[in-house]
Amino acid sequence: MTTATTTSRTAVVTGAARGIGASIARRLAADGLAVAVADLEESACYSVVEEIQAAGGRALAVRVDVRDEDAVHDAIERIVSELGEPTVLVNNAGIIRDNLLFRMTVEEWDAVMDVHLRGSFLMARATQGFMTKAGWGRIVNLSSTSALGNRGQVNYSAAKAGLQGFTKTLALELGKFGVTANAIAPGFIETDMTAATAARIGLSFEEFKTAAAEEIPVGRVGVPEDVANAVSFFVSDRAGFVSGQVLYVAGGPKA
Ligand code: NAI
Repeated sequence: MTTATTTSRTAVVTGAARGIGASIARRLAADGLAVAVADLEESACYSVVEEIQAAGGRALAVRVDVRDEDAVHDAIERIVSELGEPTVLVNNAGIIRDNLLFRMTVEEWDAVMDVHLRGSFLMARATQGFMTKAGWGRIVNLSSTSALGNRGQVNYSAAKAGLQGFTKTLALELGKFGVTANAIAPGFIETDMTAATAARIGLSFEEFKTAAAEEIPVGRVGVPEDVANAVSFFVSDRAGFVSGQVLYVAGGPKA
């Protein structure tokens, strides 16, 4: 049974200052949710918040380091008092620290595990109580086609595959409370993250995108809105019977 209307729902989107997270925040706000735009720096979130407000939506810029238990606690407390109890969580914050296995440092391994796995765990644990209390909730985790394996990303692919298992277990544990959990696994999406990869391998972003598009069945690279549209579906009431799934948003069946 749905106990809250869409207009009174609050969503938290991590890593929402830019890229895919910003697009998800804009989309959920357009869908009628109040959105906490959460990222490492509060000021980095202001432009996304202003855009949402200019379009008539409700949003709040929130500083959070998802790796830090106390920071997560403080951020959620602030969201509850200034926006509302969050019943939607999008674990989008992410980093890459690419290297071939023989060169990968422990710091690079840990950094990626901490943001994606520890961060998603801390955020889900901190928000699930509001969802179970409401008898309704939505958790969406950002995986990646790299979960299927990607050269130079042993840390990132392990974290993104780990998020798929995390998602399925959340679905099992929280389903009876009306809470669904799903993962989205994007392929190549045009953002600062993929621009950084182009720079690392010595290609211009245009060259990198053109080469990637040639390998993608629909003949183009993705844009953040492609992912935001899928998040919007998972968060909607229409998706209440869809849980524990991994949706590849990659312009084809595999990267
Ligand atoms: P991005 O690098 O443009 O944005 C990531 C955001 O996360 C940044 O604003 C950053 O400040 C924030 N962030 C990093 N560490 C954080 C922390 N500890 N606490 C809070 N925020 C933190 O990345 P992009 O491309 O928008 O990616 C978003 C998500 O989608 C990531 O999880 C990424 O792994 C995933 N993804 C991206 C793909 C792509 O092609 N761009 C493909 C598949 C998955």
